[in-house]
Amino acid sequence: MYFHGTSKINEKGHLEIGGVDTVDLAKKHGTPLYVYDVSLIRERARGFKRTFDKLGIKSQVAYASKAFSSIAMLSLVNEEGLSLDVVSGGELYTAIAANFPVDRIHFHGNNKSIEELELALDYNIGCIVVDNFYELELLQQLCIKKDKQIPILLRVTPGIEAHTHDYILTGQEDSKFGFDLQNGQVEEALRRSLESKYLNVLGIHCHIGSQIFDTTGFILAARKIIDKLAEWNNQFSYFPSVLNLGGGFGIRYTDEDEPLSPDSYVSEIIIEVQKRTRFHNLSMPEIWIEPGRSLVGEAGTTLYTIGSSKDVPNVRKYIAVDGGMSDNIRPALYEAKYEAILANRPTDEVKEKYSIAGKCCESGDMLIWDLPLPNVESNDILAVFCTGAYGYSMANNYNRIPRPPVVFVESGEDQLVIKRETYEDLIRLDLPLQSKINL
Ligand code: LLP
Repeated sequence: MYFHGTSKINEKGHLEIGGVDTVDLAKKHGTPLYVYDVSLIRERARGFKRTFDKLGIKSQVAYASKAFSSIAMLSLVNEEGLSLDVVSGGELYTAIAANFPVDRIHFHGNNKSIEELELALDYNIGCIVVDNFYELELLQQLCIKKDKQIPILLRVTPGIEAHTHDYILTGQEDSKFGFDLQNGQVEEALRRSLESKYLNVLGIHCHIGSQIFDTTGFILAARKIIDKLAEWNNQFSYFPSVLNLGGGFGIRYTDEDEPLSPDSYVSEIIIEVQKRTRFHNLSMPEIWIEPGRSLVGEAGTTLYTIGSSKDVPNVRKYIAVDGGMSDNIRPALYEAKYEAILANRPTDEVKEKYSIAGKCCESGDMLIWDLPLPNVESNDILAVFCTGAYGYSMANNYNRIPRPPVVFVESGEDQLVIKRETYEDLIRLDLPLQSKINL
């Protein structure tokens, strides 16, 4: 078992995170409960920034807030001096509500609505990552209407396949995202943007996938893009000031995962960009990255209470927790693997394997298969590690299960940052039936 960040076993023999006993947290806030190790998030944020500084590269590290967005989280991101990637009006609204500095907000998305683009223009956000011709035209029209200029990046699909789960590949040619780098689309987009007096093309963006364990894909993408930039330098006398290489740096969910350190990801990529720009005799652009999972994934732990169990003789033992695919859909959606321990007695002798079922009305609602644990009893607290990215943000109300609360822990203190949803919250938007039947 590998403990991330400040997680350890305390003198009571309980799992402790951020100096706080998780059994006490479960009592105080109830379960399921998402717990975030704030100092680990800070360490990761500082690690990325330090690497750029060490190499003397101008940079922006933008937190991909789709991984986990909340007012407190974005305030923390701001405290650490990062920028922010948002992909919807809702994520942008949360950033504004958190008083996030607008000039460090970057707006992504393959189908931004008029309302969303207007919101971005009205708030004067740092830049819009333009994804397609429809958006380019829409943005141009809105800028004319508001008589406003906006910095943009053009998103390209460089045709690089990253080694990761198929569902989360975004860099290959056959992708819904971005302008194709090879078939002339991106040149057309660049030409139109450069002609516009409203669009200020800061540079190019690409994102090749997620949960990537090595830098080969990033390096190939960077090479292809820089070769293009060399052509554009001649063709359009244009050279971007920004190259945004997206996010996707992998994390260690289980023993099988072997990610690089943030430092290695960033330095290996930068060294290649430096080499390639030098080769073409180009100047070094500012490098932006957009880590989501690698900033928050390992910092999150979900606490559940064990309830029922079912023994299928000679097959397996099921134990059920008080959450499931409603608070962590990743196992059902991507066959994602997790590790877990009993938070109230993590050092008891491991006796057998249990399969951890959620409480949703669906056979596929299984969180972990065949997990070695001590003899499990009802009311034990199960801590599932590495749930900090795409856990809360993809949580849902299937079966009308309220979403769990989120607590931050740091230096021995816990802080509730998202409240537990209530049953009243669940029916808040419901309206009564206006019956057409006369009874
Ligand atoms: N930038 C862009 C343009 C992206 O599309 C993404 C993720 C990121 C940055 C951040 O990637 P990260 O560093 O977190 O890997 N729901 C899936 C992940 C989808 C990722 C989508 N885009 C999951 O639970 O694994």
